[in-house]
Amino acid sequence: MTPVLSSTSRAAGKRVAVVGGGIIGLGIAWEAIQRGHQVTVFDPAPASGATYAAAGMLAPVSELHYQEEHLLALTVESARRYPALMSRLEAGGRTTGYQRTQTIAVGADAADRQVLADLKQAQVRQGLTVEDMTTRQARAEEPMLGPGLSAAFRIPGDRQVDPRLLSRVLIDDVRAGGMLEAQSVESLAYDDGNRTRVAGVVLVDGTHVEADETVIANGLQSPEIKDLPATLSLPVRPVYGDVLRLRVPRHLQPLLTATVRGVIRGRSVYLVPRQDGSVVVGATQREGGTTGVSAGGVYELLRDAQTIVPAVAELEFEEATCRARPGTPDNAPLLGRPRGVEGLICATGFFRHGVLLMPVTASICNDLIDGGPADPAYRAFLPDRFQGETA
Ligand code: GLY
Repeated sequence: MTPVLSSTSRAAGKRVAVVGGGIIGLGIAWEAIQRGHQVTVFDPAPASGATYAAAGMLAPVSELHYQEEHLLALTVESARRYPALMSRLEAGGRTTGYQRTQTIAVGADAADRQVLADLKQAQVRQGLTVEDMTTRQARAEEPMLGPGLSAAFRIPGDRQVDPRLLSRVLIDDVRAGGMLEAQSVESLAYDDGNRTRVAGVVLVDGTHVEADETVIANGLQSPEIKDLPATLSLPVRPVYGDVLRLRVPRHLQPLLTATVRGVIRGRSVYLVPRQDGSVVVGATQREGGTTGVSAGGVYELLRDAQTIVPAVAELEFEEATCRARPGTPDNAPLLGRPRGVEGLICATGFFRHGVLLMPVTASICNDLIDGGPADPAYRAFLPDRFQGETA
C-alpha cells in the first residue's frame, strides 16, 4: 500500500481522509473533490452496507416519524438539493435512478386509515403537503392496487433514487478525482498528547496517513475506530432490516408508477418501482433477533405487499438482503465537528435517512473542511451531544 495524502502533497486544497465509503462518505468525498481538496476514502467494501440495502426513497414527508420532527429541517433541505445534484451527476448520460414520481400512502383496515389520517395531520402541521384521495382515484392512477384498501393519500413531493446506481457514479468520480483505498482504518492519529488535534489515521496494516481533515463516515463501525477523542463516544446501534428485490414480468409492467407505502393491519411496508422493471419491497425493522435475512420478515413483507398489489405473487423473487441501519439514541445523525477537537468531522448514525441526507451532509461537512464555523442551525446534531450516555 502506498502512503497517501503525504505531507509533501499540499499543493492544492486540503488533505482529506474519509473513513467509510457508504453513500454518506462517498457524497462528502465527491463534494470535497469538487471544492479542490485532495481526498482519499478508506473502505474495504464501498457501498456494501446499509447503502446496498436501501430502497432510496427521498421521503421527508412520508418518512416523518413521531418524535423525529427535529430532523425535518435537515431532511427537507436535503431533498431540495437532490435535483441539482443529480443533474450534475447524470451529465454525460450516466444514471442514478433519480425519479420525480409521487408517493401514494394506503391503509387496509379502519385502524390503518386512522393511523394515516393522524400522520397526515402531523405532516400538515409541519407545513408538508399531503392530499386526500379516494381509493377509487388511487386505483385509477395505479390499476394494480388491490381491492382490500380502505384509505389513500397522495404525497406529491417525495421522490426516489437508486442507491446502487448513485453510489457507482460517486465511486467512479471519487476514483477519477481522488483515491479510494480498500483499507480499514484502525485508529486516529494526533499531533498532540491531549488528543485535541487529529492529524490523520492509522490503517490496519500500520500505514500512517496524514490528513488536515479526517471525516468519520463509517456508520456502525465508527465507534470501533481506536483512539477517538475522550469527548466522543459515537453511540450507534444496529437496527436490522430485510428488504426484497422482485422482478416484474413484461406482461405486468408497469406494476406501479408511484412509490406506494402501506400501513397494513398496523405494519409498515413500501413498494418502490424502479425504471429497470424491478420493484423494491421493504423493510422490516428489528433491534434483536437474527442478523441475517429473517424468514418471518420476508413472509410479512410479501404478505403485506400482496395486500397492496395482489400481482406481487406473480413476480420473480430476485433478492432478499438484510443490513443494519446505524441508529442513535434520538435517531438523528452524529454530524459536525466534536467540540474542542480540530481536524475531525463526524458524519455517522444516519439510521433510516442516509440516502436522503447525503447532499446536505456533504455540504455541511465541506463547509467545515473549508474552514467555516459550525452552523448553529445544526447544533442539535453535534456528534458529542450524548457524551456520558450509552446507546
Ligand atoms: N429509509 C427506509 C428504511 O430504512 O427502511
